[in-house]
Amino acid sequence: MMNRGQFIVLEGIDGSGKGTQIQCLINEMRKQGRTVYQTAEPTASVTGGILRDALGGFTHRSAYELSALFLADRIFHNTNPVNGIRQFLDNGIDVVCDRYYYSSFAYQGIDADLQWVMDMNLHCREILKPDLCIFLDIDSQASDERISKNRLEREIYETLSVQEKIRNRFFEVFALLGDSETIKIVDASRTVSEVSADIMKIYNEFKGER
Ligand code: TYD
Repeated sequence: MMNRGQFIVLEGIDGSGKGTQIQCLINEMRKQGRTVYQTAEPTASVTGGILRDALGGFTHRSAYELSALFLADRIFHNTNPVNGIRQFLDNGIDVVCDRYYYSSFAYQGIDADLQWVMDMNLHCREILKPDLCIFLDIDSQASDERISKNRLEREIYETLSVQEKIRNRFFEVFALLGDSETIKIVDASRTVSEVSADIMKIYNEFKGER
């Protein structure tokens, strides 16, 4: 029987270097002979577009509306017949995803009721639990510097004080999730190659345990 694919998520506050590190991880996985599907949330669906519109500050949405929209987008992301996560995993393909429900907990869980956001994601049968989540940890000051260097405009969450709250929220959420999830924290304030070496180590250990 074909082995099921592995579902890996990278998380971190804005400016934590997820994009670069996802690329390094996927290159390594492919070198090891794995077939990998790279994806991200919000998705390229219509709902994803509504979300980007709100994240960019063009349309105001409450944290409750955002939570529900991210939920709908995530169900679509898991189940759609063209490039849904579930069918890739079922076909033995690994999925590496830039952000997932942990971001809903940390970002929307500040202004919306955290337990409600967690429950609706964790209790939804159509939303798969990742096999591994790697959290790129960077302090909000360093992330803010990276954001200013790389971009002219900022999204609604991209202020120093909000990023600090979100980072703290991530840690609260990881504590609440406890052993129900496999979450590994990486110090992302170091050089790209130091961070990616840590991620490779985590990935190889994770694979070895399976
Ligand atoms: P991001 O990874 O920053 O994408 P990009 O670099 O292309 O802008 O993600 C976009 C934003 O979406 C980010 O600020 C976090 C936010 N987000 C949530 O608020 N909740 C969620 O559930 C997800 C998946 C993302």
